[in-house]
Amino acid sequence: MKLNTRINGKDFSLEIKPNAMLVDVLRQAGFKGVKFGCGEGSCGACAVMINGKPRNSCITVAGSVEGAEILTVEGMGTPEKPHILQQAFVDAGSTQCGYCNPGSLIAAKALLDSNPNPTADDVKDALDGNLCRCTGYVKRIDAVLNAAEAAKKTKKSTRGKK
Ligand code: FES
Ligand code: FES
Repeated sequence: MKLNTRINGKDFSLEIKPNAMLVDVLRQAGFKGVKFGCGEGSCGACAVMINGKPRNSCITVAGSVEGAEILTVEGMGTPEKPHILQQAFVDAGSTQCGYCNPGSLIAAKALLDSNPNPTADDVKDALDGNLCRCTGYVKRIDAVLNAAEAAKKTKKSTRGKK
């Protein structure tokens, strides 16, 4: 069957098996930033945004996202032009093996999109489903709070130029 969807701002028409899971379809389409961890919805490594909401792609049937807008970590930024959150994760030392980072970044982006002024508890709740075996959880909370601050400053300075 065909899956028509928009991934990171581009249209795709992908040939998929009816029972294919979204994590496999995205990885086969080249979006290797989508990681496979537990395969049962409990580690968050495979998180992507579907129509603006974070979802674990390992428990999402690919056929169910027909017509949806998908964002993977590749769509957030590039090494040359990282998203403010990607830079903040690096600066806070919240990335070691990096396996959890794509999913955590997606969860963090979903939080900041809906709440640009989060508290540490808001960040904890939002990233609750994203496990990390390397850095622990304090640094990434710092990273998200720092990114929120940086985003506010950027907004202010852009406003000042108008
Ligand atoms: Fe999807 Fe763990 S691989 S939640
Ligand atoms: Fe290795 Fe999080 S940085 S699992």
